Amino acid sequence: MNQKFANDIQSGLSVAEKSIPYTYFYNERGSWLFQQIMQLPEYYLTGCEISILDTYKDELLDCFKAKKKRFNLVDLGAGDASKTKCLLQNYVEKGVEFTYTPVDLSTSILSALSESLDAAYPDLRHQAINKDYWEAMDDLKQNSSKSERKIVLFLGANIGNFTYKESVDFLTTLKSYLNPGDQVLIGFDLKKRPEIIYKAYLDSKGITAAFNLNLLHRINQELGGDFKTNYFRFYPYYNPQTGELRSHLVSQKDQTVKIEALNLEVKFEQWESIHTEISKKHTIKEIENLAAAAGFTVKKHFLDSKAYFVDSLLEV
Ligand code: AVJ
Repeated sequence: MNQKFANDIQSGLSVAEKSIPYTYFYNERGSWLFQQIMQLPEYYLTGCEISILDTYKDELLDCFKAKKKRFNLVDLGAGDASKTKCLLQNYVEKGVEFTYTPVDLSTSILSALSESLDAAYPDLRHQAINKDYWEAMDDLKQNSSKSERKIVLFLGANIGNFTYKESVDFLTTLKSYLNPGDQVLIGFDLKKRPEIIYKAYLDSKGITAAFNLNLLHRINQELGGDFKTNYFRFYPYYNPQTGELRSHLVSQKDQTVKIEALNLEVKFEQWESIHTEISKKHTIKEIENLAAAAGFTVKKHFLDSKAYFVDSLLEV
């Protein structure tokens, strides 16, 4: 049994405002569901980011290569690298000297990625790290030469899961592993017409609902829970003032759920909810404040044609 999972579920479900940490979405099935989400027409984020990377790949390369060192593209939470592949493809074709370092917690996703990279780009130098972000950054700090510039990618609006303070802490920690001149490219989802944001989460096929309900399946499987998932309904809620899209699983009735491994009975009142995720939507101003608060300079914001999404290039 995963003790950290057990403890987090125990504490998240034993308080008045129940929650489950978003990090537990990504087991095998959850990672697969997320790949389906990225292909939904309503989930504009992925398409926008791919179009940004595709449009600005040359300009980005000029930024990465400035200072003439070879660079290491470190892809935090690479997943299937569906977005990063636009850059890799182009840079390999151009014969650019660089290394690609995908970092991910999922062993199976990383080994699938390594295989697909070998097949598609035989000339690409790549070295996956199957550890958490800070363990991976620490490895890189120990093992890489100072003459190699680090370009850290944090794509896909993954930063949207953090509160403002968590984002500042994340960037501050990241900076502690970097050298002057190193860069970070971060994908942020931007504020836009609220209906568009809302629909990206309340998708018509219900894949996002299944992705959220998978948390309950996971508790059933790994901790011996007896959640009846059809007694909960997924409800995303967007607040245009804070830019937070908050996801909830709402109990449809009074019910008691037993979780064997925790020796716990969790009571739900009808309409009580479990909060699962924050997907924050930003403004450019907020991004600039965030970068400044963590001690980075903004080199450039790369936006898609609809200004739905931005990849911001920061430098230490
Ligand atoms: C991977 C955090 C960017 O918040 O949009 C997708 C995860 N959740 N649909 C997001 C997610 C529901 C996604 N991030």
